[in-house]
Amino acid sequence: MSELDKINSIFDAKISAIKTKEELQNIKTEFFGKNGQITKQFKTLGSLNPEQRKEFASKLNKIKDDITNQIEQKNFEIENLEINEKLKNEKVDITLPTRAYRQGKIHPVSQVIDEISSIFSEIGFSVAEGPDVETEYNNFTALNTPEDHPARDMHDTFYLEKNKKLLLRTHTSPVQIRTMLNGKPPFKIIVPGRTYRCDSDQTHAPMFHQLEGLHIDKNITMGHLKGCLDYFVKEFFEVKNVKMRFRPSHFPFTEPSAEVDIGYKVENDKIIIGEGNKWLEVLGCGMVHPNVLKNVKVNIKQYQGFAFGMGIDRLAMLKYGINDLRAFFETDYRWLSHFGFDPLDVPTNYRGLSK
Ligand code: DAH
Repeated sequence: MSELDKINSIFDAKISAIKTKEELQNIKTEFFGKNGQITKQFKTLGSLNPEQRKEFASKLNKIKDDITNQIEQKNFEIENLEINEKLKNEKVDITLPTRAYRQGKIHPVSQVIDEISSIFSEIGFSVAEGPDVETEYNNFTALNTPEDHPARDMHDTFYLEKNKKLLLRTHTSPVQIRTMLNGKPPFKIIVPGRTYRCDSDQTHAPMFHQLEGLHIDKNITMGHLKGCLDYFVKEFFEVKNVKMRFRPSHFPFTEPSAEVDIGYKVENDKIIIGEGNKWLEVLGCGMVHPNVLKNVKVNIKQYQGFAFGMGIDRLAMLKYGINDLRAFFETDYRWLSHFGFDPLDVPTNYRGLSK
C-alpha cells in the first residue's frame, strides 16, 4: 500500500468515529496542521523529479480534496445533530394546559397609592416626589420647626450622621419645600412616599407611607381645604356620605392647623366608614404657615394655601380590613395573594377604584 493510501485509510477509520466539533478540529490539525500528514506529503514534492512529481501531486491533491470534503460533510452532520437536539429540548407541547399568567399581585399599599393619585388627579393635583434621605433643613427647619422645637422629639428621627445634618425623612412634608424652591406658584401637588421613624408595634412600623398634599394659589382658603378633603374621603372609601369633623390641632408648618376625623361604626366585626358615632383620625392639615412660604421665597402678600398629610398604610388597612400593619412589610406571598390586586385592573375614578 502506498504512503498516500495508508493516509487515506487512517483518515477513513478516524472520521467515521467522530461525534463532536472538537474531535473534528483535532483531525483537521492532524492532517492539515503544520506537521499534518497531508502537509508533510506536500513538503516531499520538491525532492521528486518532474515526472514523479506530476503523478504524485495529482494523487495527493485528489486525496486532499477528498479528505476536505469529508470533513465538511462531517461538520454539516454535526451541526444538524446539534440543531435537532436543541429543537427537541425547546419543543412546546401545545396540548399542555395553560399556566396562569397573572401570578403577580399588586400590594395593597401600591394599590392605595394608585387610587389616591387617581382621585387627586381628577381635581388637578399632580404627583411630586422627593428622596428618602433628606437634609435636616428640609425636613424640619424650613418647615418652621427650629432645633429646639418639641415637634422634633415627637418624630423619633433616624439620623444618618453624628452632626444630624442628614436623616431619613420623618414625613413627606419636606417635598413641599423642594417643590416650592424649584418652581413658581401656583402649586398643586400630592406626594406619596416612604417615611421613617424609630417606632415599631402593631400600628407603627419604622418605615411607613405618607401622602402629602399642597395647594398654593391666590385666594385659597380653609373652605377649599375642607371641600378637597370631603371629596377625597368620599371617593376613597367609595361612599356617598361621610361624617367628618375638623379638630383644632397644632403643626409647626400650618396655622391654623386641624386634624380630621371620620365617623364610623362596627357591625358584625366589620368597620363601616362614614356613619355611626365613633371617630377615627385620618389626617393632619392646615393653612401653610407664612414662615414656610417665606423660607421658599413665595410672596405671602399674593399667595397662600393649604397642606395636608395622611398615613397611607392606615388608609389601606381601613379600606381593605387589614388589622396588623406589620403584615404589609413581611413579604409573605400567601398574604399578598389574598390581599393583593390584579395588576391589570388599574384604578381609575371612571371605572371604579377597587371594583
Ligand atoms: N407632616 C405631618 C406628620 O407627619 C402631617 C401633616 C400635618 C402634614 C399637617 C401636613 C399638614 O402637610 O399640613 O405628622
